[in-house]
Amino acid sequence: MSGTPVLEIRNLTKAFSMPGGRDFYAVRDVSFSVPQGASLGLVGESGCGKSTIARMITKLTEATGGSILLDGDDITHIPEKEHKKRVFSKVQMVFQDPYGVFSPRMPVGTFLEEGLVFHGVMSRKEASAEAKRLLELVELPSSLLDRMPHQLSGGQQQRVVIARAISIKPRLLILDEATSALDVSVQEGVLKLLMRLQKELQLTYLFIGHDLAVVRSIADRIAVMYAGNLVEEMDSEDLTDTAVHPYTLRLLESVFSIGDKGKKHIELENFSLSDKEDNTGCPFAHRCREAGASCSKEQPGSRLLEKNHVVKCFHVHGAM
Ligand SMILES: Nc1ncnc2c1ncn2[C@@H]1O[C@H](COP(=O)(O)OP(=O)(O)OP(=O)(O)O)[C@@H](O)[C@H]1O
Ligand SMILES: [Mg+2]
Repeated sequence: MSGTPVLEIRNLTKAFSMPGGRDFYAVRDVSFSVPQGASLGLVGESGCGKSTIARMITKLTEATGGSILLDGDDITHIPEKEHKKRVFSKVQMVFQDPYGVFSPRMPVGTFLEEGLVFHGVMSRKEASAEAKRLLELVELPSSLLDRMPHQLSGGQQQRVVIARAISIKPRLLILDEATSALDVSVQEGVLKLLMRLQKELQLTYLFIGHDLAVVRSIADRIAVMYAGNLVEEMDSEDLTDTAVHPYTLRLLESVFSIGDKGKKHIELENFSLSDKEDNTGCPFAHRCREAGASCSKEQPGSRLLEKNHVVKCFHVHGAM
């Protein structure tokens, strides 16, 4: 995969002003790119900044530093009147709660048509026929076209939301915990659907989740976030063999314990990410088994290891 990436973020930062005048960095100096047809998985525990990145890309919140490029177009600070053309028609987002996306009294068919008409993809008449095709694409019967959203199961609702998101042929689909609320078997079905659609339609995904096993199943590359920082990024297939950051290793340990203890979420010690707000040193230092004295004084920079493997840690062996 070569050429201009569909999404490139460079040193992206979001600082919120907190009472007392200090800044809280929800996202700090994060860089990554997603080439056409690829799937980047963004993983990390609750509050680490994953959704804030998605919200900056989709213009729901303004970046305070760095840049966001879509197909090479710098959309970081564009006027609001250009959002529709330069962002909304290119990036679609699917959230955890599908029901919240519907209008409660709008039938499924109309819901699908609305997206196409709003973005000027086709006329209302053409959109009506297209809605049927879209349902088939997400493996749902056309008999659902006349149903109201509350008459669908959670899995069916999410499939309809995915159908609407891909209907306008977005350059980038952001899936923010899109399968997290679904039962395991339903989740598996939606993940398989997403993989098939990606392959067939050459879609580009930013797949956000807290469950490393789920994220790994769909992503070509994995970016691990901790407390607003991207701490490690590598090819998904290399994850278990080559992960070196102490935090990634802890996540992997918690994945292996899921089967034993029936745990679904990453649970480390009782700790709030916002406890770490002084912005000095490695963000993971006070939870890290490897941490030495320098780790709480200085921020580790990005180091490029072999095979597109990037890590931010002073204790990585073999780093160049
Ligand atoms: N408007 C805001 N003002 C202040 N802090 C905020 C604001 N929005 C988000 N935050 C903080 O930024 C941090 C990152 O939040 P974010 O929603 O990006 O996390 P997340 O990784 O998506 O978590 P989850 O897995 O629970 O969805 C959190 O500590 C959150 O409290
Ligand atoms: Mg989130």
